[in-house]
Amino acid sequence: MAETDALPVVRSVAALRQTLSDWRRQGFTVGFVPTMGALHEGHLTLVREAGQRADRVVASVFVNPAQFAAHEDLGTYPRQEARDAELLAGAGCHLLFAPSVEEMYPAGATTTISVGGPAEGLEGEFRPQMFGGVALVVTKLLNQARADVAVFGEKDWQQLMVVRRLVRDLDIPTEIVGSPTMRDGHGLALSSRNAYLSEAELEVARQLNGVLAAAGAAAASGGSLDVVERDAREALLRAGFSHVDYVAVRRADDLAVFEGGVADAPGRILAAAWLGRTRLIDNMAVAAPS
Ligand code: PAJ
Repeated sequence: MAETDALPVVRSVAALRQTLSDWRRQGFTVGFVPTMGALHEGHLTLVREAGQRADRVVASVFVNPAQFAAHEDLGTYPRQEARDAELLAGAGCHLLFAPSVEEMYPAGATTTISVGGPAEGLEGEFRPQMFGGVALVVTKLLNQARADVAVFGEKDWQQLMVVRRLVRDLDIPTEIVGSPTMRDGHGLALSSRNAYLSEAELEVARQLNGVLAAAGAAAASGGSLDVVERDAREALLRAGFSHVDYVAVRRADDLAVFEGGVADAPGRILAAAWLGRTRLIDNMAVAAPS
């Protein structure tokens, strides 16, 4: 096992399993937090949540090529393992799993996972490769770690719903826990991709959450979703976003469209919008009508 100053690091599935089986032999339960690194306070809240729910916490840092399209930011995605290890240790993580691409996808690996249900539409429409890639790597990671509980952020609400569906459909015996979105003092959801933003873009980015909160409130009070979504899209463009992929109010759990055109059950408002070459996503709860 390699050691950084901060945290033990394992790079192979065999070494991961060795440490985890030692833990289990000692009677410890295991919490797991999968990430792609470039960690911020949002990731660290997941680590703390895992620490509340299990005796030992393992985090993974793996920038998963399978979930990036050829034109996306796989090559430039920030990589800073030593810093990540320090942050993880400070948040109470006990082990970092940081495999290579070859370890995760050895030559000859051909199996894929086909997703549906909550993976359809929204991110699934604009990043068609993504949820298949997420499903594949999350299935592998959950099988590798066989943790008691794994924590995912509500920041990626659709991903959380896809993962919940995946573990149900494939009988993966790890409990999936969702953890609330961490925001900066202006309400901007923390994201590794915020590092790409200029000062001027940051000012615009900080308006996304306010637009969604207002639109979500209008939806919760019975507004026509067509109108709510159109107004929110226009508000984002007025705020300075260069392009809006979607703003949509959906059923919270399966992300299905509200057929009646109003939010008559618990919903979620979700958006993806561009600032120059940076794509931001955010989402919020839409209260059920009283
Ligand atoms: P990544 O973007 O690194 O995010 C790792 C986890 O941190 C995800 O569960 C994400 O929802 C959560 N997260 C990110 N920003 C957050 C915030 N501001 N507040 C709370 N949680 C936040 O999501 C992925 O990586 C990958 O798709 C992965 C699941 C690791 C599979 O490759």
